[in-house]
Amino acid sequence: MASEIAAKISPGHGPGLRVPVHLGVIMDGNGRWAKARGKRRTEGHVQGVQSLRNTVEYCIRYGVQYLTVFSFSSENWTRPPEEVSFIFNLLRRFVASDLHRLMRNNVKIRIVGSRAGLEPPLIRLIDDVEAKTRTNTGLVLVVAFNYGGRAEIAEAARRLAEDAVAGRIDPSSITEASLGRALYTSDIPDPDLIIRTSGEQRLSNFLLWQSAYAELVFVPENWPDFDESSFLRVLEAYSLRERRYGGLGATGS
Ligand code: IPE
Ligand code: IPE
Ligand code: MG
Repeated sequence: MASEIAAKISPGHGPGLRVPVHLGVIMDGNGRWAKARGKRRTEGHVQGVQSLRNTVEYCIRYGVQYLTVFSFSSENWTRPPEEVSFIFNLLRRFVASDLHRLMRNNVKIRIVGSRAGLEPPLIRLIDDVEAKTRTNTGLVLVVAFNYGGRAEIAEAARRLAEDAVAGRIDPSSITEASLGRALYTSDIPDPDLIIRTSGEQRLSNFLLWQSAYAELVFVPENWPDFDESSFLRVLEAYSLRERRYGGLGATGS
């Protein structure tokens, strides 16, 4: 199935199949995947990392330029501490095991989210990974970690308010563009497509500002089961969408 569609896309992603410049992924369903197999939730997270590795490869293969993955939300702190620390360790292990390959594949890594509440060694690790991959020119892998869309907007508003109070900016000069530049994602284009696995149909505080005109595609499989056929089915669904941005679209009707 995957290779059939792949054949249809190549070369140059061929007739009719559009590839988003920026793909956002809400990687959901790790716990349910594990539970269905009588395993611990944490095993679902381990398997989820493999799906992430695979998805990075699909993005490179099919020409996605930015991939943003939701890996830990600011609300995920409400989970049992053992699960939270397991996910934190998984980020460290992912960097240790995959940085080499990501470098080889010219991937630039960005980690977006609040640094508050993160241990200094983890902050150093994040800074280090970003610095090491900064000049890479291939896929930009944006990891939303300790990320919440509302917190991001509030932080940006606070920064603009501080600038206004200090006289650095005039409040009347605040625009959508200047607020956008105060977000973590200032140098990243808005996502064209956001997908969520596991059948849930909500954003759960992911890229709230940036998703204003993103197409949304929800797929039933849990994140550890997301494979190349799933990826291509999502691209097919995206290709059928007409993006109108409030206008009348190509047909004018
Ligand atoms: C997504 O899977 C990963 C994180 C939120 C860290 P879940 O852990 O939410 O899995 P479910 O939704 O409980 O199955
Ligand atoms: C969203 O999934 C966060 C991540 C995928 C990291 P959740 O599983 O935390 O979202 P809810 O609780 O189902 O809305
Ligand atoms: Mg979930």
